[in-house]
Amino acid sequence: MRRAHSPYSGVRVGAALLTNDGRAFTGCNVENASYGLTLCAERVAVVKAVSEGATRFTTIAIASSTKEPLMPCGACRQTLQEFAPGLRVLVAGPRGPVREARLDELLPHAFSPRDLR
Ligand code: THU
Repeated sequence: MRRAHSPYSGVRVGAALLTNDGRAFTGCNVENASYGLTLCAERVAVVKAVSEGATRFTTIAIASSTKEPLMPCGACRQTLQEFAPGLRVLVAGPRGPVREARLDELLPHAFSPRDLR
C-alpha cells in the first residue's frame, strides 16, 4: 500500500496473495496518466505470482487508504477466480474492521475455465 502509484485518485491499495505452500506475493495499485490503463493491487499480486510459477492460492489480504474497507473490483474478482474460486478474501481499511468473504460469494455464477471445456 505504501508503494501505490496513485497520483490521480489518491487511493492507496495493497494486496498480499498467499499460496498453498506459504508464500506471499504482494501488489499495489499502479495508475497511469492514461487512466484506463490503471492496474489494481490485486491483479498486480496475481500476475506477479503466476509469472513466478505460483498458481495455487488460499487467501488474499487487501488493505486500502479508503475510509471503509475496499472490496475487490469486478475485474479483480474475475482474474482471481481463474485460479482460486474458493479464495478467502480479507479486507481492511485504515480504521478496520476486517471484513471476510469467499470469492465465490463475491462472484457467483462466474464465467470460468470450465465454460471453455
Ligand atoms: N483499486 C484497487 O487497487 N483495487 C480494487 O479492487 C479497486 C480499485 C484501485 C484502482 C485505482 O488506482 C484506485 O483504487 C481507485 O479506483
